[in-house]
Amino acid sequence: MLDKINDIKEKIQSFSIENEDELEAFRLEFLSRNGKVQSMFGLMKDVPNEKKAEVGKLMNEVKNLAHQTFENAKVELLKSEEKEFGALEDITLPVESTYTGSYHPLNRALNEIKQIFLRLGFNIADGPELEDDFHNFTALNFPPDHPARDMQDTFFVRKSEEEQDLVLRTHTSPVQIRLMKEKEPPLRSIIPGRVFRNEAVTAKSYFQFNQVEGLYVNVRVTMGELIETLVMFAQLMYGSDVKYRVRPSYFPFTEPSIEMDVWWESEKGGQWLEILGAGMVDPNVFESVDVDSEKYTGFAFGMGVDRIAMLRYGIDDIRLLYDNDIRFLEQFKS
Ligand code: DAH
Repeated sequence: MLDKINDIKEKIQSFSIENEDELEAFRLEFLSRNGKVQSMFGLMKDVPNEKKAEVGKLMNEVKNLAHQTFENAKVELLKSEEKEFGALEDITLPVESTYTGSYHPLNRALNEIKQIFLRLGFNIADGPELEDDFHNFTALNFPPDHPARDMQDTFFVRKSEEEQDLVLRTHTSPVQIRLMKEKEPPLRSIIPGRVFRNEAVTAKSYFQFNQVEGLYVNVRVTMGELIETLVMFAQLMYGSDVKYRVRPSYFPFTEPSIEMDVWWESEKGGQWLEILGAGMVDPNVFESVDVDSEKYTGFAFGMGVDRIAMLRYGIDDIRLLYDNDIRFLEQFKS
């Protein structure tokens, strides 16, 4: 009898409990209703009366040992779980950080541009990516069959044989037309958006990119104000000591037209970079949207966002901006 009891005691002592399953196995083997501890007490009826006190004491010891072992093992398991899954006890302990995502470099550059023009009193507007010929070309003073239309290789979208082809907008300038049709001057908006051109895909060119258009229409808007606005933009964007120059240029929808360059320092010495086209809204454009060109004047500008982002972040291949490769994007966590 005593041997049997000591045998159970030994089994309890040598049982290894390293995980939840083993803890449960222990419970079943010793502590359940049919377990060894319970059946051990069943043997009591065979114990002669004069031995009952001694055997009972031993049995109680074994029973307590089983309960103690079970409770201790349970606490130990809980502790190691806490270690594994983080600080349950001390919430000030650092936890492993999880991936939180980051701004796309294009959105970063765009946000900077937006902030600058919001400061300068512009609001933000937008328009459709799928345009018609009127908004993308005709209303912007591109004459029919004029070579100026070839300045921008166009993706056409056919709706049906009868209807005129639509175009994926080649620039954000058509939104100028929409704004002026919608609302009387004064107007002072920037229009960020995606544009599309049928160009070969290389490290330097892509079939889509991003522009920010600007339009200011009011009484007595002057070329001086245009240049002042652009210089202010360049200083806020590239630093107050930015070196810039303004050159005459040509766009069908502005007269006169200009382009602005900024000096970009690099290890190889530096170079002039064209950052935007601009000009005074051509009276023909005002006419196409019934704005009185005797009463109002205005200026417009358009800039590429991709190039700004590439220079800013040292990205040498435009395709990286559109691949959405997580290994690339991860580098822009702030
Ligand atoms: N739309 C022109 C382009 O994509 C850029 C541009 C030039 C926009 C002059 C303007 C502007 O508003 O006045 O090349």
